[in-house]
Amino acid sequence: MMNQTEPQPAVTFTLNGETRTFATRPDEKLLDLLRRNGYRGTKFGCGQGTCGACTVIMDGRAIYACLLYSMQAEGRDIRTIEGAGTLDKPSEFQQELIDGGAVQCGYCIPGMVMSATALMEAESTYPDDLVKEYMDGNLCRCTGYEKIWDALRRVLDRREAAAKKG
Ligand code: FES
Ligand code: FES
Repeated sequence: MMNQTEPQPAVTFTLNGETRTFATRPDEKLLDLLRRNGYRGTKFGCGQGTCGACTVIMDGRAIYACLLYSMQAEGRDIRTIEGAGTLDKPSEFQQELIDGGAVQCGYCIPGMVMSATALMEAESTYPDDLVKEYMDGNLCRCTGYEKIWDALRRVLDRREAAAKKG
């Protein structure tokens, strides 16, 4: 238990484009810090790095926030689903998920969106094998993979076609 007189540790990182400082504990995971501070779009699934529900982007790479200690986020650039789109202005992939009826309980969707965002930002072509590599760590317990895949494929196909046109 923490001594009342000990200073409480704090961590500072960029969160969805803003520099933020949060009180934390040495044993707190980034996922818990985010959710405790109202960023509840990032979900707790397994807590063990196997389901992808907690996926956020750190310095351009999709990571599991349930595995990262909050202090390890010091100085990093973190993005969560709250920065990806809003109800009024969903991202292109979010809109395709809606239009394609790809969301069942929705629990896996924030993680799926963050992994797809990392893919779209890091790569310029999207062969199926590469897309699978990026999306492999995101499980859907409603098993809605086909519609989620189709929604993502529509977005990626459009991006590839636009890039070809220049
Ligand atoms: S909650 Fe992090 S991978 Fe499942
Ligand atoms: S839509 Fe329910 S877990 Fe994927």
